[in-house]
Parts: sequence; structure tokens; C-alpha cells
Amino acid sequence: MKYNLVFKPIKVGKSYIKNRIVGSAVSLNHANNDGSISNEVISYYSNLAKNNVGLVVVGGASVSKEGKVTKNEIHIENTKKHIKGLKKLSQSIKNYGAKAVLQICHVGAQGNPKLSGHRIVGPSKYISPDIGIECDVLEINEIKHIEKKYVDAIEIAEKTGFDFFELHMAHGYLLHEFLSPFTNKRKDAYGGSETNRFRIIRNILENLKKKIDISKIGIRISGDDYIATGLNISKQKNLIKLLDSYGVAYYTVTAGLYETAKFKYINMKNGNYWNYSEQLKKLTKKTVITQGGISSISEGEKLLLKKKGDLFGMAQALIADPEIVTKTINNNENLVYECLAHVKVGSCHRCRYLKQKDYSFSCVTPTSWQPKLLNSKSRTKDLNFWKKTIEKLKNS
Ligand SMILES: Cc1cc2nc3c(=O)[nH]c(=O)nc-3n(C[C@H](O)[C@H](O)[C@H](O)COP(=O)(O)O)c2cc1C
Ligand code: SF4
Repeated sequence: MKYNLVFKPIKVGKSYIKNRIVGSAVSLNHANNDGSISNEVISYYSNLAKNNVGLVVVGGASVSKEGKVTKNEIHIENTKKHIKGLKKLSQSIKNYGAKAVLQICHVGAQGNPKLSGHRIVGPSKYISPDIGIECDVLEINEIKHIEKKYVDAIEIAEKTGFDFFELHMAHGYLLHEFLSPFTNKRKDAYGGSETNRFRIIRNILENLKKKIDISKIGIRISGDDYIATGLNISKQKNLIKLLDSYGVAYYTVTAGLYETAKFKYINMKNGNYWNYSEQLKKLTKKTVITQGGISSISEGEKLLLKKKGDLFGMAQALIADPEIVTKTINNNENLVYECLAHVKVGSCHRCRYLKQKDYSFSCVTPTSWQPKLLNSKSRTKDLNFWKKTIEKLKNS
């Protein structure tokens, strides 16, 4: 296939990205116990950059240890060790000519004290059905503290060489919980009207703009929460206007919360995620990244041609085969290890570590990132399993 758009550089914010391929945010649960960067984290993301991904998003870096999903997620802290690790990570991505993004999160009411070791908090009382623990409702002084944590975390991370910081406002995490009337039932200055529900975001951006260039900020936004009182793109028109007015660089469109995860995959398969980004493109002049269920570079090219987004992101296709872009450039698409979940919805979830008993992140395909496992016996077994399963799925 001839590629007209995928390999064309694009300006995002003030940076040039060498192609239109984004490694969507993926958290690995492989940071050190103190949230600092491990060699495994560096090896995963730098391998994507080495294999020609233009924009590499490091997933799920929490603003504090209290905001982590799991103990082994990355968190940002002002210590020599944390800063050194983040610098090494951004450099290891940029050395290959990719741009580096750090996604900034707080788990909010979807946290689990058993995994993070911390109490869980949210704008209002909420029990995520997956977790079954009611969160504590944040006091105003605690919200102010979290706002400061966001600004401090980004200010620290900015000094470590990342090109962009992606504020996570989707998937039911804390900022999303404040934005959505489904999870925000507060009666004070942080709840009720849009002005109040947007307050946490406005306060963060107002303080952030004194410290960093807002054209380094990207937004992960929810295309649809799959809940009547939740959010979708049209309900977020005014939020998008507000974010545009601050001068953010880009939006990357996703969907669902933990509670509605079962609706995500079928909507992805039906191409609805790409429709949400198309809808968003009509509301903003900022860069839009489409993603969700993209299984090949040629599929990405088609979506760019259809104006579903300016760039496209892939998470599982790159977990299944981090060399997918390199193989495409070398006309070796036939050698790509396809993600089983992209062939058939629900066929494989091994990489979704929150669903695994041991919370360990791995993939069934033989080229998954762990270099030390590449030649082991279990990898050979995995290769056979993958070969048989993909044949079965394709013939079913
Ligand atoms: C193992 C794993 C970890 C993920 N971690 C994050 C994350 O930290 N932040 C986020 O916004 N999305 C995360 N996602 C969601 C992906 O970015 C992506 O939106 C989703 O997998 C759908 O895209 P895909 O079909 O290309 O995989 C994760 C997905 C997987 C499979
Ligand atoms: S573990 Fe399964 S679902 Fe995840 S990337 Fe690999 S093949 Fe796809």
C-alpha cells in the first residue's frame, strides 16, 4: 500500500512529529516500588521509539503516590531518583527521534487501597462496581492540595525533558469524575454548573500557565462514557472551548469508565471511537488523535484520509508487535504479530494486568517487549499458542 499521510511530519503545539503514529498511553505496572523509573519501563518505551513510533506516550504517571492505580505505577516526586529516572526515560525515547509524552493522572474513586496502599477519594460518594469500596469525599482543602500536586508534578516533569504532558480527563479517573455529573454530585463551588465542574481544571491550568508553556499540554478526553448522565463529545463542547482558549496542543479521544468497560470493546470494533474523534475535529482547530482498535498502519492511513484524526494511536497493536511500524516501512507487513483482541473482541486480555491474578503485564505474542524472555521456552510456547489461536480466530 502507498502511504500518503502516515509518514508525513506534522506540527503539534510547537513541536514537529516525524510521522502520524502515536504509541497510545499504556501503563505497565513495572515501575520501581517507590514509583521511580525502572530499566524495564525504559526498555518498553524506548523500543517503541527505536521502531519508528513518532509520538511515544508514557502511560499513567500519577501526580502523587496517593493517586496511583497500583503500587508499581510511575509517580512523580521531587527526589533525585525520580528525576534521574524520568530524565533517562525521556532521553531514551528522544534519542531515536521520537517525541516523548508523559501522561499525568490521579486514579480518584476508581482506586483500590489493596493495590495502591492508599485511601481512595473522589468528588462525591461513589463505589466502582469492579472494586466495591466507597471512596472518601474530598474536602475543599484536599482538592486545593491535589490541584497543587498537578502543577508541581508537571513543573518537575517539565525539567526532565518530556515534550508534552497529557492530562488524563477520561476513563473515570479523578479529573473526569469532577467533569461528569454522573460522579460529581457536589453542592459547593466544585459541583453543579459547568463553571463549577470545570473549576479544578481551570485552577490547574491557571497556575500551570505561570510555570510552563501550555502548548506542551495534551488532553485525553472521553468520546462517550456509555452512561446517560455521563459525558460525550457534544456535552463537552464548552470544556473543549475552555481548553482551546488556554492553548492546549492536542486531544486524544478514548471512551468509557471502569464501570462501562464492557461497552468499550464492541464500540471500538464498530469504529465508534473514530467517530468521536471525527466529531471532535469539527469542534476544535487543535490537533486530534484518533485511536481505539487500530490494528495496522494501513488502517491508520485510511482513518487519516477519512479525516477521523490528524494522527492515530495504537496501544495493543504495539504491545503485540512493537516492530509493526518498522515492518511496515520494510514491506514486511505479513510478518506482523497481530493482537488477538483486534481479530476478535474478547479473545485475549493477557496484557490487561488489572484483570490478571498477579497484576503482571505481558503479551502472548513472541515479539512482546521483554528482551530477556525472547528466547526462553515460555516464549516458544507462546508463539505456538499465538499461531494456533490466530488461525482459529481467522477461520471462525
Ligand atoms: C495494558 C494496557 C494499559 C493501558 N494503560 C493506559 C493508561 O495508562 N492510560 C490511558 O489513558 N490508557 C491506557 N490504556 C488504554 C489504551 O491507551 C487504548 O486507549 C486502548 O487500549 C484502546 O486502543 P488499542 O485498541 O490501540 O489498544 C491501556 C491499555 C492497555 C491494554
Ligand atoms: S496480550 Fe492479547 S490482547 Fe494484549 S496485546 Fe497481546 S495479543 Fe493483544
